[in-house]
Amino acid sequence: MLGAWLLLWGGLALGAGGDPARPRRGDDDDDGGAGRCTYSFTVAGPSEASCPEAGGALRAELAALAARLSLLESREPGAAAGPAGSPRARGAQRAAPAACGNLQRVTSRLQEDKGRLEREAEELRRRLESSARELAQLRAAGCPPRGDGPLRDTLHGSGQASRWDPQTVDFQELQSARMELRTSRLLEETARSRPDAKDSGCGELVWVGEPVVFGQADSIAGKYGVWMKDPEPVPPFTRATTWRVDTVGTEVRQLFQYDNTEQFSKGYPAKVHILPRALESTGAVVYRGGLYFQQRRSRLLAKYDLRAEAIAAEKEIPGAGYHGQYPYSWGGYTDIDLAVDETGLWVIYSTEKAKGAIVLSKLDPETLDIQRTWETNIRKQSVANAFIICGILYTINSYTLPNATVNFSYDTATGTSRPLSIPFQNRYQYVSMVDYNPTERQLFAWDSFHMVAYPIRLARA
Ligand SMILES: *[C@@H]1O[C@H](CO)[C@@H](O)[C@H](O)[C@H]1NC(C)=O
Ligand SMILES: *[C@@H]1O[C@H](CO)[C@@H](O)[C@H](O)[C@H]1NC(C)=O
Repeated sequence: MLGAWLLLWGGLALGAGGDPARPRRGDDDDDGGAGRCTYSFTVAGPSEASCPEAGGALRAELAALAARLSLLESREPGAAAGPAGSPRARGAQRAAPAACGNLQRVTSRLQEDKGRLEREAEELRRRLESSARELAQLRAAGCPPRGDGPLRDTLHGSGQASRWDPQTVDFQELQSARMELRTSRLLEETARSRPDAKDSGCGELVWVGEPVVFGQADSIAGKYGVWMKDPEPVPPFTRATTWRVDTVGTEVRQLFQYDNTEQFSKGYPAKVHILPRALESTGAVVYRGGLYFQQRRSRLLAKYDLRAEAIAAEKEIPGAGYHGQYPYSWGGYTDIDLAVDETGLWVIYSTEKAKGAIVLSKLDPETLDIQRTWETNIRKQSVANAFIICGILYTINSYTLPNATVNFSYDTATGTSRPLSIPFQNRYQYVSMVDYNPTERQLFAWDSFHMVAYPIRLARA
């Protein structure tokens, strides 16, 4: 029933533009053909698509939705599966045998959530509707410039340079479907309990609260990413303008711009910027009207002027490791991580000279020149992430443990470090980005498809 609805919607959304992508329903012969159904999905090749960037992204989202809806349908009464034959969604890619154990575990967890599945179905319908609307909007606005998008890489690419493992797609989709149940509840909580008591001065981090979900990625390209607000925005942008980059893939160039948090939550971008250079990893920041990022496979930093829509400055960080030399413990080519605090723009990285220890440099935001550098004794690859508040660097010990901690600080004012044990909750157990926003006084993070923010408390030393 849901599937029929999807096919109808998918047909309308895709057919309207003459798009060759087609969801197709067929027998699942791999599982013994016991009358269960799955959807396979064909996506147009780059040459067939008339609007490759935006169209590719949206087709990928529709494909992800198709996979999830077919999963939901298999949970409905009448399509019940016994423990011996777990239902599975088959998207654009197939699961490897190794993923089966995971699939079965997730399936049994899904069973527990059965009563809430209808609510999720509603949510999915809403998202599909918004994707279709987005597609129509983008068509009406004309196609963005040509180029290889990260989403298409995920669907068609050989994957040789991608850290993301295509064999786990079905698992990730299932995980994502399960997490979505919790999200709607969290969004309700957000509306009720947004902390607004702001500490005016600087201090040391003493507390990190529970993460609050602000957005969610629908497609596999959004497993990792970075979301941002400019702490010192320049008109026409405001403090509410929200930015997002999905960083799965090898040619990451799409920067989504949202008018405010609400549009961001709904997934309605006001604009999609196509960056003149591909960026790498989740280390980007937005500051004083510029997107600062590390260029793919290089130690070059770039400042992309968001108003002029052009590169305004470029500079190499001498000796900085890149592309997997000194990443954070989760990988993701997170060798070079930009940060903004009350005092300005920073870059967190390492060098051969520092033997993999975290190096910190203060940057001139206009020229990207290094103003001063500090060397710590924390091995960069041993920590899950790092962020800077009031000139103090903090590290997180794990990107997956639900009971992770902020376990170390390094004060650039005194050159001293100390161990800490401040609880930090990895709610979705795959935190790929953590950045402090000094205006919002929150930690922004990307946790396995979820864009979250953590309230914090500082105390004067
Ligand atoms: C912080 O956690 C990382 C990762 O577990 C560990 O290698 C490091 O030694 C810890 N630092 C301190 C000061 O406990
Ligand atoms: C976190 O939880 C794991 C597994 O439950 C446990 O082994 C570990 O000791 C806990 N760590 C902390 C810092 O509480």
